[in-house]
Amino acid sequence: MSIKSNPAVTRRSFIATSVASTALMALGTRLPAQPTIRNFTLRAASGMVQMASGPLRETPAWAYNGLVPGPELRARQGERLRIDVTNALAEDTTVHWHGLRLPNAMDGVPFLTQKPIVPGETFGYEFDAVDAGTFWYHPHQRSSEQMGRGLSGPLIIDEPNPPRVDRDITWVLDDWRLLEDGTIAEDFGAPMDMSHAGRVGNAVTINGKFPDRFTVQQGERIRLRLINVANARFFALDFGSLSAQIIALDGQPVTPHSPPGGVVVLGSAMRADIMLDCPAAPGTQLQVVDRAYRNNAYRLIDIAYSDTPLRDSPPDWDIALPANPLAEPDIAAARRHEILFTGGMMGAMVERDMGIDQARGMMGGVTGGGMWFVNGVAAEGPMLEPFLTLERAQSHVLELTNATAFTHPIHLHGHSFRVLSRDGVPTQYREWLDTVLIAPRERIEIALVADNPGDWMFHCHILEHQAAGMMGVIRVA
Ligand code: C2O
Ligand code: CU
Repeated sequence: MSIKSNPAVTRRSFIATSVASTALMALGTRLPAQPTIRNFTLRAASGMVQMASGPLRETPAWAYNGLVPGPELRARQGERLRIDVTNALAEDTTVHWHGLRLPNAMDGVPFLTQKPIVPGETFGYEFDAVDAGTFWYHPHQRSSEQMGRGLSGPLIIDEPNPPRVDRDITWVLDDWRLLEDGTIAEDFGAPMDMSHAGRVGNAVTINGKFPDRFTVQQGERIRLRLINVANARFFALDFGSLSAQIIALDGQPVTPHSPPGGVVVLGSAMRADIMLDCPAAPGTQLQVVDRAYRNNAYRLIDIAYSDTPLRDSPPDWDIALPANPLAEPDIAAARRHEILFTGGMMGAMVERDMGIDQARGMMGGVTGGGMWFVNGVAAEGPMLEPFLTLERAQSHVLELTNATAFTHPIHLHGHSFRVLSRDGVPTQYREWLDTVLIAPRERIEIALVADNPGDWMFHCHILEHQAAGMMGVIRVA
C-alpha cells in the first residue's frame, strides 16, 4: 500500500488542513511519524441471531463475529486501521469500507481491487482514517444475498475534538424479508425485485433488534448516527417534537440545518449524523415515524422521557463539525461528463418522455440479462473495463440523468463529491456525499477532484439494481 498515493492525506497534511486549506495534499507530504494502529478482526460466518427480545425463535443469518449488525469498528481520525477478515462462509466474500477514502487496493471489490477471499482464508485490510465521520462496511461479493442475510456493520471515525454531547449513539437501520417462521426468505435475485424497487423487506430493525423504545432525558443532547444498511428500503424519519439538526451527511460535515420537509431521508447506504435535543418534560412520550413510503407511514420506535430530567433545557453548545481534508473542486476549470441511467420497469416510457434515444438505452441489454444501464451498458460479470476515465488531480463535474421510473442511491467509491445542483437549481448546502439520491427524471450535477488513483466502482446501492447491471467502473488516472 502506497501512502504517498493516498489522496489523502498524510497526518501532516491533515493537521495542516485546518490552517492552510488542502493545498498540501497535492504535494504528497510524507508521514512524519507512524500513526497509531487500531487492530480489529472480523469473521464472516453463518449463525443464529435474535431480532426480538423474549422467548422468540432465532433467525439463521450470516454475521460478522456472530453479531448483526457486525461489531462497531471505531478509531480516531489520523489513526490507521488494520482489519483481518476471515471468511468462514461457504462462498467467496470481500469487505468494502463504504465512504472511506482509502487506497484502491484496500477497497474490497472482488476482481477489480483484490482477489475474492475464499472460504477459510484471511485477508488483511489496512488504511488510514483520513476523514472523521459515520461510515460502514459490507461485502462486495454477491452483495444482495450476503447483505440481505445480515453481513454489514458500522465504522465510526471520531474527530480529534468532537462537539460536546451527552450521548453519541449509532442506529444501524436494516430491513429484512422474513417468513412466518422467522427465517429469511430465500428469493434473492427475484426478477420482480430486480426490475422494480429492489428487495424491500417486511421487518425493520435498529441495531439488529425490532425497535421498541428509546429512553431520553429532559434537556439531553444526543448525537445520533443513522446508517441505512438495507438492500433497498428508503427511510424518511420524522422525529416529532425532538429537535433534530443535520450536522453530517455520508460522514461529511454539512452546515447544520433542520431536515428538509421535516424528515431525515436515507436511501440505501446513506448516513446522517443528527443532533437531537430533548426539550420536553419527564414522562413525555412520542414516536419516531418513518414516512418514506406514501400512505405507508409507520411508527419506527417509541421515545420515552425518563422520570429524571438531565437539565432544564437542551444546552447551547456548538454543534458544527470541523471540516474533513477534502480538496475543493474548481468548477470553472472542471471537465464535464454526462452519465445517463436507463432501464427498469416503465423505463422506456420515461426515456420517450425525456426525448432520450432509445437505441442508446438498449445497447448492451440485448446480449445479456441486464435490466439497468449506465450510459447504455448493463454491466455483467466481474471483469469490468472503465466506462469513464477521470484525469487525476483535475476537477470534474458529472452530470447524472435518471431516465428511469425509480429513485436510485448512486454511490462512487474512493471519493466524496459535492452535490452542486438538482434540475439546474443550486443546492443550498453543496453537501459532500458518497451516495446521492436521484429521483425519476431528475438531472443532478456532482463535482469532485479526482485525487485518488485507481479503478473505482460507481453503482446504484439498491443491491438488486446493481446486480442487474446498474454499475460501472470509473478510472482515475
Ligand atoms: Cu456500499 Cu459499492 O458499496
Ligand atoms: Cu437503483
